[in-house]
Amino acid sequence: MAGGIFITLEGGEGGGKSTQARKLAEALTARGHEVILTREPGGAPGAEAIRKLLVEGAGNRWDGLTEALLHTAARRDHLVKTVWPAVGAGKTVISDRFFDSTIAYQGYGHGLDIAALRELQRVAIGDFKPDITLILDLPARVGLARAHVRGGTETRYESMAVAFHERLRQGFLEIAADEPKRCRVIDADHDIDTVHAAIMSAVTTFLGKR
Ligand code: TMP
Repeated sequence: MAGGIFITLEGGEGGGKSTQARKLAEALTARGHEVILTREPGGAPGAEAIRKLLVEGAGNRWDGLTEALLHTAARRDHLVKTVWPAVGAGKTVISDRFFDSTIAYQGYGHGLDIAALRELQRVAIGDFKPDITLILDLPARVGLARAHVRGGTETRYESMAVAFHERLRQGFLEIAADEPKRCRVIDADHDIDTVHAAIMSAVTTFLGKR
């Protein structure tokens, strides 16, 4: 896709992705980028409606495959309505989560077949992928404790077992190892400014190579 840049932030619960996505957006705006800050599940009206189904209610409300289908349906709507038009117009799109979350949460977390999930992504979105993915890594227990303090109604995933969160952390690390050109692992077990500096260093290096 011509023109813009697509940056994604990934990782488990409580890693500070939303804060870091906002700080990255501010920093790139200050450098002259026209930035769209968005998120998954969500980022378009239809996808936000699907988000409510996914993040609220009991942990066992959906089985793993239903979750994967709902996340992927939301993703396609997000791409069609928000991401592809913006990237096509030369903008810098920063998304708080994208398809690596489906591989990590529904694949590694719920144990769905990873090749099948990758094929589902291919059917839904073709070969489109982020230019750079920042994986905010921290121990599952530390992230869950932080997410718990945050509170709110979006607790469905936080209610799942620690072992689920440990598996998906491992999943993100394996994704990063498999795709070192696209993915950078950022140690998120630090204060906000330290993590932001690590993200800016990775993004600045990436932009310098373009
Ligand atoms: P958030 O809390 O980062 O906004 O994300 C909402 C939840 O959705 C989070 O617990 C991770 C989960 N999720 C998946 O399980 N699969 C996906 O494909 C995406 C995008 C998110």
